[in-house]
Amino acid sequence: TMAVQISPSILSADFARLAEAAAAVSNADWLHVDVMDNHFVPNLTLGLPVVESLLKATSLPLDCHLMIEDPDRWAPAYAEAGAGSVTIHAEAARAPVRTLRQIRAAGARSGFALNPATAVEPYEDLLGEIDMLLLMTVEPGFGGQKFLDVVLPKIRRARALIERHGGQIWLQVDGGVAAETIERCAEAGADVFVAGNAVYGAGDPAAAVDALRALAAG
Ligand code: DX5
Ligand code: ZN
Repeated sequence: TMAVQISPSILSADFARLAEAAAAVSNADWLHVDVMDNHFVPNLTLGLPVVESLLKATSLPLDCHLMIEDPDRWAPAYAEAGAGSVTIHAEAARAPVRTLRQIRAAGARSGFALNPATAVEPYEDLLGEIDMLLLMTVEPGFGGQKFLDVVLPKIRRARALIERHGGQIWLQVDGGVAAETIERCAEAGADVFVAGNAVYGAGDPAAAVDALRALAAG
């Protein structure tokens, strides 16, 4: 059985208190950092300077999700800064093979993200370059959106492709993941779960992480 990992998204935390937000989920596996540039998505969040400060403020590894127009230019810098994982979007990357290799060469895990309407099959030949495949379960841009269950069949197909490829690639879901939806994601084959609202909207974020982990583990 697969090891469940939980990656709380600080997009749903208080941006003036990010160090406290990280400390509140010390039982998580990762801290998910949503980088948005107001071009790839209609929202603006934070960039490399904040990530550099967060790296000093927490011992959790950072799971940086780049929702930006030019990931080829910026992704290596996040990896060189010390992010544990750097994820670029298929819809934005113009040289994904080179960029995924640069992320790995800088010592981070390489992530590759697909929006809800982007098929996984065209990227099968890239799986050797990818440490984590991210399937968006909302349209990217905002926390607190409703989980899109139209993505569930793609999670199953991605899991089958990953198993054909040796099973080492992590399969992450992001968007609307909560107590009501996480079991369906896990059953479909996801093993890394991003949760923003379900963690930071809860009275006790650490307890929410434990509860999500238990549900996903079945
Ligand atoms: C959305 C972001 C997500 C967001 C998820 O574009 O990529 O990481 O924080 O938030 P919830 O879990 O509230 O849907
Ligand atoms: Zn995200």
